[in-house]
Amino acid sequence: MKAVLSDRYGSPDVLRIVDLPRPEPKANEVQIKVHATTVNRTDDGMLRPHPFFIRFASGLLRPKNTILGMDFAGEVESVGTEVTSFRQGDRVFGMSPDHFGAHAEFLCVPGNGQIARMASGVCFDEAVVCEGAWYAHSCLKAFGLRHGQKTLIYGASGAIGTAAVQLAKFYGAEVTAVVSTRHLDLATNIGADHVIDYTMEDFTKIGETFDGVFDAVGKTTFFKCRRLMKPNARYATTDLGPWWQNLFLPSWSSITGMNRVVLPFPKCIDGFVEFLKARIEAGEFSAVIDRRFPLEKIADAYRYVETGHKTGIVVVYVRHT
Ligand SMILES: NC(=O)c1ccc[n+]([C@@H]2O[C@H](COP(=O)([O-])OP(=O)(O)OC[C@H]3O[C@@H](n4cnc5c(N)ncnc54)[C@H](OP(=O)(O)O)[C@@H]3O)[C@@H](O)[C@H]2O)c1
Repeated sequence: MKAVLSDRYGSPDVLRIVDLPRPEPKANEVQIKVHATTVNRTDDGMLRPHPFFIRFASGLLRPKNTILGMDFAGEVESVGTEVTSFRQGDRVFGMSPDHFGAHAEFLCVPGNGQIARMASGVCFDEAVVCEGAWYAHSCLKAFGLRHGQKTLIYGASGAIGTAAVQLAKFYGAEVTAVVSTRHLDLATNIGADHVIDYTMEDFTKIGETFDGVFDAVGKTTFFKCRRLMKPNARYATTDLGPWWQNLFLPSWSSITGMNRVVLPFPKCIDGFVEFLKARIEAGEFSAVIDRRFPLEKIADAYRYVETGHKTGIVVVYVRHT
């Protein structure tokens, strides 16, 4: 099979398209013929690797996972002897957050892992949405999001931001999205109740307060957003922030009993992909697709993702010959 080998850390230049034997499913695994995947910030963080301490988990000098790719959508090619919930030909989607491997023509994942049958009427490109939704869901849960809560989502145009707006609306929040001028319509179309253009207005001076503030793109700070927060509000973020402050602020805020800053490390929740499928089927969640690249041009996809200005997801499609 064709696969994108990343057996060294570095820039997208280290990636090589190679021929490798297909992975064979273990007894509890499903073998998937991959039709679409993404390049996302998690894949890019593993490639560089960024931040540096990721190496303690991903391999100190060389990556342990030599094929990246977290999101997948495709067809079940075969199943292990213990798998009863999927069969050959099923159209499935999901994510492989521990071992990656979706930047290849075939991938094996546990049958009881982060995988579900695709919603009907959805194409493979539209199903590779798990990574952003997973981060967004973890951060919104960290707020203890409730119906009617006022939530501000900063950077609501990336993979995590677009997912966060849609999931916050599903949970019944009143959402204020902060985006650049080119994304104002997008933010409204995916459900934001109010939209602020960060290039035209200082969003911290709008004179309103929120039950939760979520920096979905890692470009603002708790200290800037403090004045936007109600007394028991929480600030959640996806990034370490200047001087890695978001690593220390959560501990400080729990020591002081304020519990105001959270940097959730997403954990796998049983049924998360099924939950997402239900949202897609109900029309409550849809993919925001920026660019599409063939597998052969995946290095260009990484270069584009590294600009930090993609809109929603960047899809990589796999042609089977
Ligand atoms: N290290 C990891 O493994 C890892 C994994 C996942 C996510 N993350 C972090 O999570 C964050 C979000 O991930 P993502 O995949 O959603 O990112 P993304 O898709 O790359 O987000 C880019 C979006 O943010 C907007 N943006 C850029 N600069 C902005 C600013 N100053 N203010 C507001 N919006 C801005 C961009 O639009 P405009 O440029 O038009 O504003 C673009 O639409 C990133 O900071 C990333 O580092 C890290």
